[in-house]
Amino acid sequence: MHWLMDLMPGSDFQWGEPEPGDNFGEHHLNHLRVLYALCKFYEPDSILEFGVRYGYSLKAMHLARPAAQLTGIDNGSYTSFWDIKARARVPAAKLGHRDTRNLSRIEPVDFVHVDAGHRFDECLADLMLVLPRAKVVVVDDYHPANHPGVWYAVEEASRITGCDVIEICEEDSLIGPFKGMAVIDGVPYGS
Ligand SMILES: C[S@@+](CC[C@H](N)C(=O)[O-])C[C@H]1O[C@@H](n2cnc3c(N)ncnc32)[C@H](O)[C@@H]1O
Repeated sequence: MHWLMDLMPGSDFQWGEPEPGDNFGEHHLNHLRVLYALCKFYEPDSILEFGVRYGYSLKAMHLARPAAQLTGIDNGSYTSFWDIKARARVPAAKLGHRDTRNLSRIEPVDFVHVDAGHRFDECLADLMLVLPRAKVVVVDDYHPANHPGVWYAVEEASRITGCDVIEICEEDSLIGPFKGMAVIDGVPYGS
């Protein structure tokens, strides 16, 4: 964790003025701040997100790496008009209205943010899809009580692939209120 702690206090994260309809609390803003810091740390040139909704996390990653190729995928199951808001928030992103369950393979990518289906089977399938093709995978809502499906999916994916998991939990008081995140870092097991 020392590298993250080095980053966080001096983080230059600036969300800017909330846009009309923006609605998130301190724990969500802290999540965006950590995602931003991770994105700066890993310096990806290509970024993929599963689960975009209104594009909050997409924007945090874009702020960190404005020149990176940014792709977001969402099936619109939460809101069918997700892409209108997400596109307005991050015009540079390439957005795809797709269901991750229908993807059999992804292109190699530097950095993936997994935040789509939160059930165990959904999250595990997403992780097994991206881990062989990604340098680093960040998983949202890694919390045993609030999102056990995500928690156990990360454990299982790590067990299957042998990839190391770095946990960033709400106990890490340096960050403040936080909803939990896992960083799966390592050489893709399929390479
Ligand atoms: C928690 S929200 C994402 C929040 C977003 N990352 C943010 O920063 O606000 C989860 C999103 O995943 C999408 N989703 C759920 N299951 C999916 C699937 N199988 N394929 C693609 N998108 C999916 C939902 O439509 C929803 O917009």
